[in-house]
Amino acid sequence: MSRFYLTTAIDYVNSRPHLGTAYEKITADVIARYQRLRGVSTHFVMGNDEHSQNVYRRAQELGVDPLSYCDRMEVEFREIWKTLDVSFDDFIRTTEDRHRASVSLMVKKIADAGDLYEGFYEGWYCVSCESFKQEKDLIDGECPVHQNRPDWIKEKNHFFRLSKYRDALLRHFESHPEFLCPEIRRNEILRLLESGLEDISISRSGQSWGIPLPSDPESVVYVWFDALINYISAVGFGTDEDRVAAWWPADLHIVGKDITRFHSVVWPAMLLSAGQELPHQVFGHGWVHFKGHRMSKSLGTSLDPLEAVARAGVDPLRLYLVREIPYGQDGDFSWDRFEERYNADLANNLGNLVSRITAMVYKYREGHLATPSGSPGRLAQVTEEVVGRYQAAMKRYALHEAAAVTYQLVDATNEYITETEPWKLAAEDGAAGRLTRVLFDISEAVRIVGILLGPVMPNAGREIARRMGDETSERDQRWTQATTWRTESARTILRGESMWPRLESKNLRNS
Ligand code: MSP
Repeated sequence: MSRFYLTTAIDYVNSRPHLGTAYEKITADVIARYQRLRGVSTHFVMGNDEHSQNVYRRAQELGVDPLSYCDRMEVEFREIWKTLDVSFDDFIRTTEDRHRASVSLMVKKIADAGDLYEGFYEGWYCVSCESFKQEKDLIDGECPVHQNRPDWIKEKNHFFRLSKYRDALLRHFESHPEFLCPEIRRNEILRLLESGLEDISISRSGQSWGIPLPSDPESVVYVWFDALINYISAVGFGTDEDRVAAWWPADLHIVGKDITRFHSVVWPAMLLSAGQELPHQVFGHGWVHFKGHRMSKSLGTSLDPLEAVARAGVDPLRLYLVREIPYGQDGDFSWDRFEERYNADLANNLGNLVSRITAMVYKYREGHLATPSGSPGRLAQVTEEVVGRYQAAMKRYALHEAAAVTYQLVDATNEYITETEPWKLAAEDGAAGRLTRVLFDISEAVRIVGILLGPVMPNAGREIARRMGDETSERDQRWTQATTWRTESARTILRGESMWPRLESKNLRNS
């Protein structure tokens, strides 16, 4: 069976996730659910990045030891991911023994390759990015991501010979055009590689919070060097070689555009140095903006995902994020826009479609549709085309396109109702067989809409398919069988409450 190893960035735990960080996990979850639906054995890993100075400082502010603080945050993070229906298979923390073992082994292999040396670092350091900055990276002396003044640090450091890997990386980018997506990120990084790479510091001295450097226990491993290794420690590097053989290399790292350089330059260079295979692909998504700025706790523009779910419902929230923000680009979240999309896409369109077909099947056929005679109408062909386009979009991780394509099927089904006028067929002598056929075809198209929406809206997708007579659980559902037009399956349509009652502005505004 083919397999798919998928990861997201691991999060700093100095604050709770906001809807921007949640966006990354939700979109990765859409991909994981889609892969599982395709019958691909999928391993989806997320986790927490704990050895950050900000985490240490936050714990100090609260007067707790950093590890207990991280334990507490793990509970909060997990609760949020659960509420958002993010179906990860493993959750890794960088303070775990399995990760420490892996970091030590990786550092040792890189040292054995002759790629570490001692030096002295003097320069800027942005604690929020946990990143060394050059003067040219700053705008008016501030970090452009966090809009704060970096610290000036001077310390003995251990350096990694990143510069040595520049040519190998360029060759890899050339021979693997899919390595970094989307195109805009690839071009940025190619320009960076072409302009040359400098060696990077991989340790911090005088700090106790972190993994000690095996060759110099007075220093800890630089938090990024430590964190990147999570992707391979989660599958057993240094602790379980059989698992590494089963899952490594990763198929896809999903990360934000601010950290694609770490993932497409530093991380592959570390792996090359340690003699490990490179991940197949890195996808750098864009940012969710809120109130005109990147959503961020430090910028004061964050939105609590739990609060958002309480207001919006988890499935509508997921649909909005996936459909509204072209995957790979930045996009906005606003409650006004959310309400507009909700009413248009869900209340008036899809929700109404489900209610209409259900009502007609009850009115004209007491809820049961016998196997229809004759051949299916045009909707079957439209569905086949839509399924093909959906697959093609998912292959490129154009999640927004996959959602939009699904809506083409919703639109085509609504048009089909208008064209076929089932209410007239019901009143017409000798049209009984034709009416069954038409109702059956509509229900079948709606069932497939439910399947296609499943990765984005796991609850609603399943519920739509269930109401259209497909009781298969998400776990047992398989792509080809599920998306192939069923010609002979008499079915009972299930009634249920209106899926998405219209929202009135007063419910959502003022946030
Ligand atoms: N800990 C590092 C990642 C280490 S991965 C080996 C980190 N953590 S973070 O908590 O700051 O960010 C986690 C992820 O959330 C990153 O991929 C980041 O790009 C993403 N996002 C943070 N703010 C975001 C938005 N406003 N919108 C979309 N993604 C956002 O970086």
